[in-house]
Amino acid sequence: MAIAICPGSFDPVTNGHLDIIHRASRLFEKVIVLVIINPDKTPLFTSEERVEMIRRSIDLPNVEVDSYRGLLADYVKRSGATVIVKGLRAVTDFEYEFQMALINKKLAPFAETMFLTTDASNMYLSSSVVRQVGSFGGDISPFVPEQIREQIAGRLKSL
Ligand code: PNS
Repeated sequence: MAIAICPGSFDPVTNGHLDIIHRASRLFEKVIVLVIINPDKTPLFTSEERVEMIRRSIDLPNVEVDSYRGLLADYVKRSGATVIVKGLRAVTDFEYEFQMALINKKLAPFAETMFLTTDASNMYLSSSVVRQVGSFGGDISPFVPEQIREQIAGRLKSL
């Protein structure tokens, strides 16, 4: 059974992430969406909130959501996954993603990083765009699923 990991900060999850997760779920028997905790960053949402928001945004039988503090390669090893799935928006993503793919290949040689081309409608989208638009009171509804829109807008308004 091929298990794939979709890792990210997901602070918060966007329609762009969800498109990649849905497409990965059609390619692999099991997909684990992994919220990676970066101790050097102060996120808008706690890891528990991020996990819960992803769970509320997805209804797919072969997708699980988890969180992890540490190296992605270590989680990959202990989960039995053989694929890391990332979305690529534009050339600007490439250098960073290429570096991470090569490092992960060294640390977990049995796992392959696969890139899915972001849907054209999500080319411009990122969690930081959502945070910025929402923090100035802009409408975030085109960027995030309805189930979590109020939660994100409320948090950004209270900043
Ligand atoms: O959504 P993001 O912030 O672009 O995701 C980046 C993420 C979390 C996937 C990446 O930073 C990561 O894999 N972090 C875990 C630490 C790690 O394994 N580092 C080694 C590879 S450079």
